[in-house]
Amino acid sequence: MSRLEILTAPDPRLKQKSVAVARIDDGLLRLMDDMLQTMYDAPGIGLAAPQVGVLQRIIVVDTAKDEADRAPLRMANPEIVWVSDDDNSYEEGCLSVPEHYASVTRPRAVRVRYLGPDNQPAELEADGLLATVLQHEMDHLDGILFIDHLSSLRRNMILRKLLKSKKDGR
Ligand code: NI
Repeated sequence: MSRLEILTAPDPRLKQKSVAVARIDDGLLRLMDDMLQTMYDAPGIGLAAPQVGVLQRIIVVDTAKDEADRAPLRMANPEIVWVSDDDNSYEEGCLSVPEHYASVTRPRAVRVRYLGPDNQPAELEADGLLATVLQHEMDHLDGILFIDHLSSLRRNMILRKLLKSKKDGR
């Protein structure tokens, strides 16, 4: 497994819509493993393919706190088929928006349909943190970052700071 470079905002590739995967082949299995390695190293609890410059509908997620409890999820073409009526707010961060955090409100629970690494359709119902992470990662596939859920004032302030740290070479 190898570690991939994570794109940071502002980057036009993070704003694009990713395309559906027709079939998960060996190349995409390797990509999923590399994304997991990159995510664990960061460290993070979710990563979407466009964050490593691949505009395909693939996400990986693992919300385990300890290495011993790892339970990686590899998903292609994830789509939300049900959301709960009630919401949850979490302080979100993103490996593509380093060092910035903000509270985002999303449905508390979701059911997600996806293509698994064995090319079989699967469904997962999640609530709490996992539901938030899944929605956050799926947003990436449509070019949406968590800061897009904030006021434009707050978003632009964060983007300006990110741009400045890029210029400063950090
Ligand atoms: Ni993110």
